[in-house]
Amino acid sequence: MSIPVGILGATGLVGQRLVSLLDGHPQLEVVALAAGDERVGSTYAEEVTWRIDAPLPATSGQLTLDHAHPAELSGDPEVVLSALPGSVAREVEPVFAEAGTLVVSNASFDRMASDVPLIIPEVNAEHIHLIEHQREARGWDGALVKNPNCTAATITIPLAALGQFGIEQVRAVTMQAISGAGADGVMAIDAIDNVLPNIPGEADKLASEPAKLLGSYTGGRIEPAGLTVDAACHRVPVIDGHMASVWVDLDTSPEIDAVTEAFDTFSPVDLPSAPTQPIVRRQELRRPRPRYDRDEAGGMSVTVGPVRVDDSTVQFECLAHNTIRGAAGACLLAAELAIETGYV
Ligand SMILES: NC(=O)c1ccc[n+]([C@@H]2O[C@H](COP(=O)([O-])OP(=O)(O)OC[C@H]3O[C@@H](n4cnc5c(N)ncnc54)[C@H](OP(=O)(O)O)[C@@H]3O)[C@@H](O)[C@H]2O)c1
Repeated sequence: MSIPVGILGATGLVGQRLVSLLDGHPQLEVVALAAGDERVGSTYAEEVTWRIDAPLPATSGQLTLDHAHPAELSGDPEVVLSALPGSVAREVEPVFAEAGTLVVSNASFDRMASDVPLIIPEVNAEHIHLIEHQREARGWDGALVKNPNCTAATITIPLAALGQFGIEQVRAVTMQAISGAGADGVMAIDAIDNVLPNIPGEADKLASEPAKLLGSYTGGRIEPAGLTVDAACHRVPVIDGHMASVWVDLDTSPEIDAVTEAFDTFSPVDLPSAPTQPIVRRQELRRPRPRYDRDEAGGMSVTVGPVRVDDSTVQFECLAHNTIRGAAGACLLAAELAIETGYV
């Protein structure tokens, strides 16, 4: 099977990850790449400032960059993976979905819309069926599927493992990598020797997205999970890898062995890009660390650090690769789920 796929925002940090991860993909073949207007007409290899520690795939390098519009994208892709900035994505993604394309998007607009699946396959695969409701409501032949915010994904995967104990309240302090702000996001003078508190908009995404992600799908709608999330979000001088210190207040008081077993046995899914172990637990006091743990399972696993249980509160550190598990890899997983469930 080879399904033609286009990447919008292919020259950015997430777009480059998509190009890299799709090299040799068993189901999807890159046929089109799009970037900003001034690059259109040049080849990808000529325009991209390649920032990935693997060679630029030759076949993608030879593709000519297109405008991010269905009428102008080469190769008639059935699937479009969007790594566009939010303001551009808001205009462009619905046009692709209306034109019959499955769009899987990293941009935040419409993540909380009631008819838009916000997907982590290990957590809420059944939410993909919102596509039927969306197609009916919006009159689209295609569909719009969203990835969660990168830090929301990092935190929600371990929260899903703890769901069996009843989650009431979550507090988190995040330490987020520079690459999370995009290729031109943080100037060196701010990034080095510094911590930047209050990342704009981030705490709001953490307050809203986990409840939808962990919600139940019934009768064509998502019933949000009844938890609250308060977060303080910081940009730190790390290239890749978002980390968080998390406190979870439960409505039960489990033994620590039950909690660690819940992390260790959290179920994988059978999709081409899925890790065999979504949560990797480290016992060492000083792990996880971004430099050592962000590439676990090719960047697709979340690493959970030492777990403490104090009555009904569980505390742990967690870390995931923001442009892979938090963005490009998440996008591939959602596309693979849509293929498996027959929406492509
Ligand atoms: N970085 C992360 O860790 C992360 C994680 C999760 C989600 N996200 C989300 O993913 C998206 C991409 O993030 P990023 O970090 O990859 O950003 P980025 O490095 O700034 O890349 C943005 C991409 O969009 C293209 N673009 C900009 N304006 C355009 C236009 N008018 N028409 C067509 N293409 C245009 C850029 O092309 P040019 O090179 O031509 O300007 C570039 O390829 C954003 O929505 C972001 O919020 C990012």
